[in-house]
Amino acid sequence: MFSAIFIFVANCFVFLNADILHGYGNNKFAVKTPYFWTHPQKTFMPNELYTLRHNGDICHAIQLNFISRHAARYNEPDVMDSFSTLQNKIKSSYANSNYSFISTWVNNYPKSKANTVTKLGFQEMTYLGAKYGNALLSLFTSHLDTVKVRSSHVQRTSTSGSAFMDGVRIGIGSGSPLNITPVVDDRIMLFYDGCTKYATKVLGNKTLLQEKYEFRNSTMFRNMIRQDYYTRLYGHPVIAAMTCPLVEDVFKSMDNAIHNYKANKSNKSKLPSALYRNRYPVADVRFGHSPTIGPFLAALGLFKDSQPPTARNFAAMKNRLFSVNTVVPFSANIGFILYDCGNGLPDDQLVRLYVNEEPMVIPACGSVTCNYSDVRRYYSSMVDKCNWDDVCKNVNFLPPNIVG
Ligand SMILES: *[C@@H]1O[C@H](CO)[C@@H](O)[C@H](O)[C@H]1NC(C)=O
Ligand SMILES: *[C@@H]1O[C@H](CO)[C@@H](O)[C@H](O)[C@H]1NC(C)=O
Ligand SMILES: *[C@@H]1O[C@H](CO)[C@@H](O)[C@H](O)[C@H]1NC(C)=O
Ligand SMILES: *[C@@H]1O[C@H](CO)[C@@H](O)[C@H](O)[C@H]1NC(C)=O
Ligand SMILES: *[C@@H]1O[C@H](CO)[C@@H](O)[C@H](O)[C@H]1NC(C)=O
Ligand SMILES: *[C@@H]1O[C@H](CO)[C@@H](O)[C@H](O)[C@H]1NC(C)=O
Repeated sequence: MFSAIFIFVANCFVFLNADILHGYGNNKFAVKTPYFWTHPQKTFMPNELYTLRHNGDICHAIQLNFISRHAARYNEPDVMDSFSTLQNKIKSSYANSNYSFISTWVNNYPKSKANTVTKLGFQEMTYLGAKYGNALLSLFTSHLDTVKVRSSHVQRTSTSGSAFMDGVRIGIGSGSPLNITPVVDDRIMLFYDGCTKYATKVLGNKTLLQEKYEFRNSTMFRNMIRQDYYTRLYGHPVIAAMTCPLVEDVFKSMDNAIHNYKANKSNKSKLPSALYRNRYPVADVRFGHSPTIGPFLAALGLFKDSQPPTARNFAAMKNRLFSVNTVVPFSANIGFILYDCGNGLPDDQLVRLYVNEEPMVIPACGSVTCNYSDVRRYYSSMVDKCNWDDVCKNVNFLPPNIVG
């Protein structure tokens, strides 16, 4: 039955031009890189991520916490406008009658589509939803109604959340469309918006931006690959620190899952109503922007190279960990999968962390599978002592200039 689902999902992609799905070879478009161009679609098996064998125990997933950037989108309104201007210029000035098709050339980039999710973007999210839904089939089946879906107030993140959930539905082989509208939660998805200290110490910091400007002037700039390291990850401690509302939200969600999972498990009541007791979201999924993802990765301590990339060490840093095209493309995603190992002990949970579907070595334990309590302790200053206004020194509001 489930192999049929893959065929269905795969067929959806056939309608797209192969170049659109794979890119054109040198797929380096920084944060504007489509997901599949640096993370080609992988095949997956039902329940592939559901069970985990660890030290002789069989553990199974009890919750997915997912944080994603919105899917591939059209350009900003001014860029769409420049395209129309260019088109009109070409139309009005071509003289060679061999190119008369130009007169009937339809502009597929009207301003009305500015910033909206593209067809390829819908494919990205459907694929990711189908992948996680199917790879965690037993977790989602019959608990789909508990899933919590949040986004920023920006339409493309809401559209992405709905498309992801439709992918989950396909992945678990459920029939009718869900039409889920994410709940807006800017506190956790747009923590960088209105963070005064971030605006002044990072975005408006000439010293810190010096490498970026020098790099921009260098011949390597055409590769456009790492300008965001300083402003989005490790340029200043406030970048990681300001993510604390999101870090707190993710870990409290996992705490809540463990608490309710254990309470439910220990309740021996055979009443049918027991099924509905101690329910918790089996998946907590969130959709934000590139400045949501980059700083969050910095907070987790991932993709931190031994030396920062500068305008002069491009060649030496060729195999660096942080490359914008691969780490923060459209639909860039982070998944925490929480496992229970079934022994009923308080410390019986494990966690795995996936970035763009690849398992990560978690800094808290130096392994891809960590004891949940160790990971929680490692990030406890952000989880338990998050005071965002304090971190951001928000006395006078200073709106930053956001693109994502
Ligand atoms: C139009 O195309 C034909 C065939 O390729 C070529 O012979 C001709 O020179 C072209 N005309 C112009 C004005 O470029
Ligand atoms: C700019 O960033 C550097 C490097 O993080 C930091 O040491 C410095 O204090 C910042 N300057 C200002 C004016 O915020
Ligand atoms: C980059 O080049 C521009 C001129 O093209 C120059 O004004 C600017 O000072 C240069 N910046 C750096 C950081 O070298
Ligand atoms: C277990 O279920 C009973 C009712 O069947 C309920 O009164 C009790 O609160 C439940 N215990 C827990 C820990 O949820
Ligand atoms: C709660 O326990 C019941 C009975 O074991 C089980 O069927 C149900 O799936 C559990 N609910 C959750 C949310 O884990
Ligand atoms: C997690 O660590 C605690 C304390 O070291 C240990 O008792 C527990 O067995 C560990 N849990 C797992 C699943 O390995």
